[in-house]
Amino acid sequence: MKRMILSAFFFNPQGDHRISWRHPNAPSREIYDLPYFQSLAAVSEAAKLDAIFVADHVGMWDTYESNIAHYANPRLEPITLLSALSAVTSHIGLLATASASYTEPYNLARMFASLDHLSHGRAGWNVVTSSMAEEAMNFGHDGNIDHANRYERAGEYVDVVKALWDSIEDDAILLDRESGLFADPRRIHRINHAAKYLKVRGPLNVPRPPQGHPVIVQAGSSDDGKNLAARHADVHFAVIRSVEEGQKYRADFDTRLERAGRVPEDLKILPGIHPVVASSRDEAREKEEFLQTLVPERIGVDLVSSWCGIDVSGFPIDGPLPPLPDIESYDGQRSNLERMKAFAAQGLSIRDVAHRLINAGAVPSVTGTPADVADQLEEWFTAGAGDGFNLMFPLLPEDLVQFCTQVVPELQRRGLAQSEYAGATLRDRLGLRRPPNRFDRA
Ligand SMILES: Cc1cc2nc3c(=O)[nH]c(=O)nc-3n(C[C@H](O)[C@H](O)[C@H](O)COP(=O)(O)O)c2cc1C
Repeated sequence: MKRMILSAFFFNPQGDHRISWRHPNAPSREIYDLPYFQSLAAVSEAAKLDAIFVADHVGMWDTYESNIAHYANPRLEPITLLSALSAVTSHIGLLATASASYTEPYNLARMFASLDHLSHGRAGWNVVTSSMAEEAMNFGHDGNIDHANRYERAGEYVDVVKALWDSIEDDAILLDRESGLFADPRRIHRINHAAKYLKVRGPLNVPRPPQGHPVIVQAGSSDDGKNLAARHADVHFAVIRSVEEGQKYRADFDTRLERAGRVPEDLKILPGIHPVVASSRDEAREKEEFLQTLVPERIGVDLVSSWCGIDVSGFPIDGPLPPLPDIESYDGQRSNLERMKAFAAQGLSIRDVAHRLINAGAVPSVTGTPADVADQLEEWFTAGAGDGFNLMFPLLPEDLVQFCTQVVPELQRRGLAQSEYAGATLRDRLGLRRPPNRFDRA
């Protein structure tokens, strides 16, 4: 039977709720050291989750007044962190976010190839194009870079990275002491890429990764983002609000995949959810409400400003959202702006929208007892609204531990989640092909 893919998402090291760091049970300075993340990985691996997924930005969010004071949340760099975790875990997938806009493809290809070797085929790259002006300003720009170019360039970039991973064929390293041949020169290739945005000669100086290509992940639902995923990604993290939306989303992606010469099995879609598990529904609700009391009002308003791309702090907090920018000419996060337009159409006040963003961003909460949560996930999964879930825990480590020890066993009993790891690599376990090598003579 088909089973769910489950990935634990770490946005802030203290949880996905923006102000979870204030919770009395949240971790403190240990978020800058390995043992804390080692314990998150150990809990996830004991529950046989498929992967841990570390978010990242290459800048500190500080446009609005409250950001640095309450929320900025500096964190460890994900590839470095996951390299360390590769040594203290054995099966779980290690997905790191890295920007295609602000890293040279040669550097990035080396880092992920190395992580794949060190982890014996467990690495994945969450390709982001970076949409914050604060990031652009760390890399020679005065403001955000253009949305369409960002994605067009990212498409070329991922091509280059994949070509670099192929540039040393699997059997190219001989280490033959007898003949004196370290490698077979016929199986090592310059990629000689020169196109609109990038010029890279190659070959890469890291052997082909165990998975051929580390798993490629893309997150976010703008049209450009989805087209990039349809061409290149193995896993797509989506924001989907209902079973029906999930089914339509899948059907739309299948068409995009076909256009890109791929089949539906080539891409796994994981909707994000915000699991809140408790011994009763009342307790689950109290947990959500308690987190809400920790949020300074100003941070919510600034979060709304950031999602809208305009400063809303001058407008009455109990009034509607002001007129919002046009999607087509917007260079920030288009999927976020689309959500804001949907909230505006529902007539929500700035305060209401702020509450929703602080709580769960745009993903749905799945709340209740372990059986309640399992029921809802089962419904989504069996209806074809997702190949599994991206688990966005409001508070770490508590919510992760509860999910892993209470919900996962229930899903396993129902035959919906794996009870053992199978296969040699992350690709094998996710049901993804090992990509052929473009330089293969056959
Ligand atoms: C589950 C999820 C995780 C994401 N993680 C990151 C991240 O770690 N870093 C980042 O820069 N963007 C991240 N994004 C943002 C997307 O890459 C994308 O930029 C965003 O959804 C806006 O879409 P657009 O840029 O295509 O308009 C994430 C999006 C989602 C839905």
